[in-house]
Amino acid sequence: MNKKINITYEVFADSSELNDIEKKLYESAKLARERAYAPYSDFFVGCSVLLKNGEIVTGNNQENAAFPVGTCAERVALNWASANFPNESIQKIFIVGAPKDITKKIKAVPPCGTCRQAISEYENKQKSKIEIYFGSLSGEIFKVNSIQSMLPFSFNSNFL
Ligand code: THU
Repeated sequence: MNKKINITYEVFADSSELNDIEKKLYESAKLARERAYAPYSDFFVGCSVLLKNGEIVTGNNQENAAFPVGTCAERVALNWASANFPNESIQKIFIVGAPKDITKKIKAVPPCGTCRQAISEYENKQKSKIEIYFGSLSGEIFKVNSIQSMLPFSFNSNFL
């Protein structure tokens, strides 16, 4: 028997199509991106997280000379949010990435596989969905309503 999983994602033509809170998250992620520590890849990523109490926390990628020790922007932001606000659910996260040299344009930075698993853990922890936005410094912004659209067969998956 075959089964289907439907994945829906939204596309905003650019940031002018975002609502006020989404714009705030986009600007916060861009600001966080500028403070990234990424001397090895020169690829700067920022992430903002909106908590249920309205607080916005941010993170950026933190690299290390021993490459695997480095941490992505998403996990810096999410781990900080969970460490400091363990009982506040995470409503939205916004990821913005671009090379240090911003004349080199890229389309968007979707979360890597490891970060998808981390987002999935927090959805399971709080028993509610986390909306994920991702883009770059200009142009299209993408949105999914849950990590289930990006990691349907996650460990602990409820599809099986
Ligand atoms: N990176 C992130 O921070 N988030 C992602 O989703 C993709 C990759 C970082 C890791 C590394 O510091 C740099 O981008 C290049 O891979």
